[in-house]
Amino acid sequence: MTQTKDGTNTVTLTDNRTGKQVTMPILDGKVGPSVIDIRKLYAETGCFTYDPGFTSTGSCESQITYIDGDEGVLLHRGYSIDELAAQSTFPEVCFLLLNGHLPTAAESTEFDSILRRHSMVHEQLTKFYTGFRRDAHPMAIMCGVVGALSAFYHDSTDINDPVERKIAAHRLIAKMPTIAAMAYKYSVGQPFMYPRNDLSYAENFLYMTFGTPCEPYKVNPVLAKAMDKIFILHADHEQNASTSTVRLAGSSGANPFACIAAGIASLWGPAHGGANEAVLKMLEEIGSVDRIPECVRRAKDKNDNFRLMGFGHRVYKNYDPRAQVMRQACHEVLGELGIKDEPLLDIAMELERIALTDEYFIEKKLYPNVDFYSGIILKAMGFPTSMFTVLFALARTVGWISQWKEMIEDPVQKIGRPRQLYTGETKRTFVPLAERG
Ligand code: CMC
Repeated sequence: MTQTKDGTNTVTLTDNRTGKQVTMPILDGKVGPSVIDIRKLYAETGCFTYDPGFTSTGSCESQITYIDGDEGVLLHRGYSIDELAAQSTFPEVCFLLLNGHLPTAAESTEFDSILRRHSMVHEQLTKFYTGFRRDAHPMAIMCGVVGALSAFYHDSTDINDPVERKIAAHRLIAKMPTIAAMAYKYSVGQPFMYPRNDLSYAENFLYMTFGTPCEPYKVNPVLAKAMDKIFILHADHEQNASTSTVRLAGSSGANPFACIAAGIASLWGPAHGGANEAVLKMLEEIGSVDRIPECVRRAKDKNDNFRLMGFGHRVYKNYDPRAQVMRQACHEVLGELGIKDEPLLDIAMELERIALTDEYFIEKKLYPNVDFYSGIILKAMGFPTSMFTVLFALARTVGWISQWKEMIEDPVQKIGRPRQLYTGETKRTFVPLAERG
């Protein structure tokens, strides 16, 4: 690394085949690792970079979320996740992520009112649900229905119009609880519940999910608070797989509803948002505390592809700060519901204890992540396992749309188009079917 006269740090690479040197600037963020600006690398060397899984690649400049994985720090627009979870509300965090500052009292009231007034979905959208089998996974329904929003809200699909971009963001955040609750209602064969404007965001979601037209549904304030906290904990997480998917889809100019549907698809996988569902299945399969050593042994066995779900993270090499808050919330919810004996919680706590003292997990810096405790809370609240990732998608929508908006407004933004290291056949002559051996 060297420094130029104007104070710019640079790094110089030498191609030992040709002796040619290329000097690239090092860019500094406000905090966190610096990046080597390789934009001219191909033009100057004829080489691409090779980084499967993007473990060393920064794909964009962003001002939304900062993670220090070694210290276990997560900041949204500079505010720490534990402070936001303890003192803020999900709509306020949505405003923060979208606009860059915490809302004033007037902005908060206005934003809250916008979300309440956009919560209903086009009536014809209900027909989409009936096209699915009753036993469809709700994430499959979410991919389809959210993608279909672009066919209903034509007046907010012009990505070049800032007003339309804003309306699309508000619509997505406001309608997601309704769409998610409808996916649940369809699976249990109950009528869809229309949103109620007198309820808060989290209350409304619980009402639409667990209420029925037959009797009044009283939202438990402790559960509504926990739901709100769970939404805050999942709101954004920098350039993870689903967010990068949203950005990549959006880089071609696709409309925001289609981009969010792409994000939902990416989130579904068990290595990402699908882990909360996988954790609960794993805890149920373990079944009792005495079977934990067997499960830990399998997780460490190189020849067994079993992994401890809810453990490990690409960025955190410390306890995931969201998991700390989730663990606390888990105890609060179980306490409120009077659940004194939850075998799955006993298994989770013992598993965590053993894993955190095991050489393999210590050496590889594998700590519980956000998904480790969320399933136990959601199960206690009455959600079926298949809805867990849907709740993640609901909450992450604000992160996706904020990142999408930031990308569209970034002047250096261009269509995302990675290259490859080709190792396939070189040009060969076509062999007619009759001559193939
Ligand atoms: N159990 C056992 N071993 C593990 C685990 C685990 N959960 N996670 C990583 N390892 C091992 C892995 O085998 C590898 O060992 P080695 O170096 O000997 O090959 C080493 O740790 C590094 O793992 P990696 O797969 O190279 O790391 P990654 O950054 O590519 O993967 C991860 C990160 C989250 C996909 C992975 O830790 C994992 O599969 N965890 C379980 C799934 C999970 O809980 N996902 C939720 C992530 S948090 C919510 C979200 O962001 O969606």
